[in-house]
Amino acid sequence: MSARGALRLGILISGRGSNMAAIAQDCRSGRLGAEVALVLSEQPAAAGLETARGLGLATRAIPWPGAAQRCEFEQEAAAALDAAGIELIVLAGFMRILSAEFVTARAGRILNIHPSLLPKFPGLHTHRRVLEAGERSHGATVHYVTPELDGGPRVLQARIAVRSADSEESLSARVQATEHIIYPKAIGWCAEGRLQWREERPWLDGAPLLTPVLEEFDA
Ligand code: GRF
Repeated sequence: MSARGALRLGILISGRGSNMAAIAQDCRSGRLGAEVALVLSEQPAAAGLETARGLGLATRAIPWPGAAQRCEFEQEAAAALDAAGIELIVLAGFMRILSAEFVTARAGRILNIHPSLLPKFPGLHTHRRVLEAGERSHGATVHYVTPELDGGPRVLQARIAVRSADSEESLSARVQATEHIIYPKAIGWCAEGRLQWREERPWLDGAPLLTPVLEEFDA
């Protein structure tokens, strides 16, 4: 996406920010040709903001004003992202739903990570639902954000096996460990220009990406 230099990322968080930290560390080590130019949270007390400050990253808190005032939040967030020269918006545990207007105006410039093998289990409490459904595999998905919640084109997935002894907590931990690998990887593809958004869909290495790339993890 950016032949001029490191791809400028704006990471939106609501909580712990472990994905944000993994991405920032890969940027810092040079493994990822991108730069975290802003970490923005709608929760001023988010632990991830403290982590980001500890990593020397620019942070901004814009308290969530309530769903009825989402437009005000989005205007303020857009101004902050634009001022920081953000080229790619990275949702990493951002727990608010962005409006169709916000998302459509930035088509192909917002990624999200979701803790399931989408299109299975969109929404919340994925680990619990996977266990209740007796699924034999589970994982995480990096996808482009469109107005359909958790429904945008999928780019990269991590698959793990569900073990008979698994609990919500153990599944969550193993899925998160894969997220910290696949999210920086997909962002790296953007930074290298391998992953592009053209004709309203993702392209990888010059061809339309019709099915997501799948990585198997047996962690
Ligand atoms: C991750 O599991 C991600 O899939 C989901 O929210 C969680 C965020 O975790 N969207 P963290 O804040 O990055 O630690």
